[in-house]
Amino acid sequence: MIDLLKKQFRIPSVVTFNEDRAGFPEMVLTHRTGSRVRLYLYGAHLTSWTPPQGADVFFMSAQSWFQPGRAIRGGIPVAFPQFGDGPLPKHGLARINPWTVIRTALTPAGTVQAVLRLTDTPEIRTLWPHPFHLDLTVELSAQLIVELAVHNTGNRAFQFNTALHTYFHVADIRQTTVTGLLNIAYRDFLRGNIRELETRREITFDREMDRVYPNAPDRLLLRDAGHRRTIAITKQGLPDVVVWNPWIDKAQRMEDFGDDEYQRMVCVETGAMEIPVELAPAAVWQGQTTFAVVT
Ligand code: BG6
Repeated sequence: MIDLLKKQFRIPSVVTFNEDRAGFPEMVLTHRTGSRVRLYLYGAHLTSWTPPQGADVFFMSAQSWFQPGRAIRGGIPVAFPQFGDGPLPKHGLARINPWTVIRTALTPAGTVQAVLRLTDTPEIRTLWPHPFHLDLTVELSAQLIVELAVHNTGNRAFQFNTALHTYFHVADIRQTTVTGLLNIAYRDFLRGNIRELETRREITFDREMDRVYPNAPDRLLLRDAGHRRTIAITKQGLPDVVVWNPWIDKAQRMEDFGDDEYQRMVCVETGAMEIPVELAPAAVWQGQTTFAVVT
């Protein structure tokens, strides 16, 4: 498989392929600035982005599973067609199925692109009986753009929720803030879904947090004082934001997450988690998020 991928999609020094320790095929995209991402075909799961300067922007748990049927803990899991709990496996089917490579390119502007696709299989259809495919496009320069496109390839409308469930790597969660959600009415998953207004210009972390901010502004800033950097998170076509940190007790309960790892991560997720998207036959829905180191 790796040999075939190399033959079809390798671009020397720009797009390369490896097999990781679990035998999962992995793509590595490298931009001329030194910016680099690692992307598994399993789940179209981005596990790493090292920008031209500084540490990895994404967090990966040292205790993650790398096993078919289990989600990878860290990076950017794609939640689809369900967000959170429901009739399907948690966060849906996209993150626990292998995707295929459709295209790789070095664009005239010098950005590096890769497109991965998940198409409904007989196995997926037994769980979710709708013809579809998903395309995840990764575009790398000094910044990173991740776009998800959902295609309804059947003759009936379907509904879905989705998220780019991004785990950010921070030096110290107690010195981390999220800005941009002031005055947004959030739902708190930890307090019976109570709705409240966000009163903080800068959200800080000193306990477990798990909230959805529906219809959030399209630009948020994640300040990671310990790494002396700010990440701008800019979304398009993705209305909602979830902010999550499991803190101490939940970290201890999670099998695939180190007890202390909550100190070095925070999830700021962009997606359509709140209201299901209705997609007509032959229609395409798109949403994207741009990640950039701004200071
Ligand atoms: C977040 C949810 O999006 O994902 C949390 O809001 C959840 O409640 C977290 O714990 C991780 O989910 P999972 O399935 O990857 O353990």
